[in-house]
Amino acid sequence: MEMLKRLCVLTSRVDVSANAETALTMALRCRSVKGMDSAVVGDRYDQIIVTAVTARVPAKVNLQLSVGPPRADGYHDLVTVFHALALFDEVTVAPAETDSVRVSGEGAASVPLDGDNLAARAVAALTDAVGPGCRDEPGVAIEIRKRIPVAAGLAGGSADAAGALVACNELWGTGLSQQELAEVAARVGSDVAFALLGGTAIGLGRGEQVTPALVSGTYHWVLAFAAEQLSTAAVYAACDRLRATQADRATQADRATQADRATQADRADGDGPGESAAGRWADGSWAEPQLSTALMAALRSGDPTEVGPLLVNDLEPAAVSLLPRLRRALAAGREHGALGAIVSGSGPTCAYLARDGAHARDLAVALTSADVCRSVISVTGPAPGATVLSPAADQRW
Ligand code: C5P
Repeated sequence: MEMLKRLCVLTSRVDVSANAETALTMALRCRSVKGMDSAVVGDRYDQIIVTAVTARVPAKVNLQLSVGPPRADGYHDLVTVFHALALFDEVTVAPAETDSVRVSGEGAASVPLDGDNLAARAVAALTDAVGPGCRDEPGVAIEIRKRIPVAAGLAGGSADAAGALVACNELWGTGLSQQELAEVAARVGSDVAFALLGGTAIGLGRGEQVTPALVSGTYHWVLAFAAEQLSTAAVYAACDRLRATQADRATQADRATQADRATQADRADGDGPGESAAGRWADGSWAEPQLSTALMAALRSGDPTEVGPLLVNDLEPAAVSLLPRLRRALAAGREHGALGAIVSGSGPTCAYLARDGAHARDLAVALTSADVCRSVISVTGPAPGATVLSPAADQRW
């Protein structure tokens, strides 16, 4: 009877006073309850029907985004510091006859509803990883409730993909570990693994190799949403173009001033070209991005006044070149006392670091009055990564 009571609690819908036979019949129909003692309960009981699972997933800002040269596969190696923000989308997955995607909320009209949708791609990638046998029904109905703006540099699509991954992992009872899910996530998009992890983390490779970072405190941010969207690929391409132009100019300047001798003298170790402040070597090639130890120390201190001036985003000039009004938005934040003002990721959202919650509210009001963006919100970070909310149980009992 004790075992039946446990099963009843786990299924959340069986009256404990029901007779033992009924309860056992119900329990036998259950699927996939984690944490039950299988030695006591046995494989057949280790199950519960879950009809839908909802996950909550955060937006992110990059506190450092240092971009290397383009790789052969078109991506760029990065050194980045991801920081999850308490601005969440919700993703619900449910078994269905056919695959479908429904989107509501912020920017819903510009989210693809077909196989291009990142959440749909995540479901397909997880199915590939664990095999189609994991599904009870042939399809998955995905419902996304958006608060994270689309194509805004906040990795909202990646967040939705991470939400779909953890939700399907729960729905199907695949039992994949966080690390295994991160490997599937990396195949879906560069920022998806971080959206699973959340918090503050260092990202390497194209951003998909994430390691949690040691940070203290809660940071108060103001986000200024733009009316426009920017494509991540277009911003990286603009970054490459700007750098190529700068490299050409530098080469011409070097020739004009016969700077070859100076270049040799600048070489720090005798066998490499000297590095400029902008991260470009004197021979026109680009330096390997490095993690900012100053930023990491500031983040450990938990003092936003130390963190603010160290925020850096190599994609910012590219985003501003595509959307010049961002320059004004960034300047307005600084004028109103932001400790740091950066374009978030590939933009066009601008992120401003405030001293505390009250300062963030004041800054939000000032930015709203300055009329430099579509809308303004204040949020805190770091926030947790993709989190499963309570699964919906089958109501057929
Ligand atoms: O990985 P994800 O699909 O989010 O990347 C979108 C686009 O951003 C890529 O197709 C690529 O053009 C660009 N990108 C890049 N280097 C990265 C990440 C993204 O060039 N590290």
